[in-house]
Amino acid sequence: MDVNWEALRRRARELTKRAYAPYSHFPVGAAGLAEDGRVVVGCNVENAGYGVTLCAECGLISDLVAGGGGHLLAFCCVDAMGTTIMPCGRCRQLLWEHGGPTMLIDTPAGVQTMAEVLPQAFGIDDLDRVTNQQEKS
Ligand code: THU
Repeated sequence: MDVNWEALRRRARELTKRAYAPYSHFPVGAAGLAEDGRVVVGCNVENAGYGVTLCAECGLISDLVAGGGGHLLAFCCVDAMGTTIMPCGRCRQLLWEHGGPTMLIDTPAGVQTMAEVLPQAFGIDDLDRVTNQQEKS
């Protein structure tokens, strides 16, 4: 499936307007393309308990799962200026679960794969490897 990156970036930028970021004043918007063609979105939602802030990616993954699940093919997130930013480390892990190594991600250095931005990722394969081993013994 062709990825309309301009449309995804535009949607992500729109989402920055919905962000709840009264503490950092750093709104983030995210948009992703699911394999069935759905566009899923998220924005950051901060909290007076700073540590429980939800990144834009959390909302996007929730939108994906609540809307029927499926695999993510492409993802981008932007700041309030519309500039492409990288997901934080925790959110790369979230994206890995639902996009896997081949998911395309818009980065300041151009479009890359998840495998490039999260090398040697921990994932479900690691869990399965041990579970399968335990079943044999
Ligand atoms: N933020 C995101 O929404 N996604 C990221 O990947 C990086 C950081 C948000 C969290 C916080 O509300 C604000 O940006 C400043 O860290």
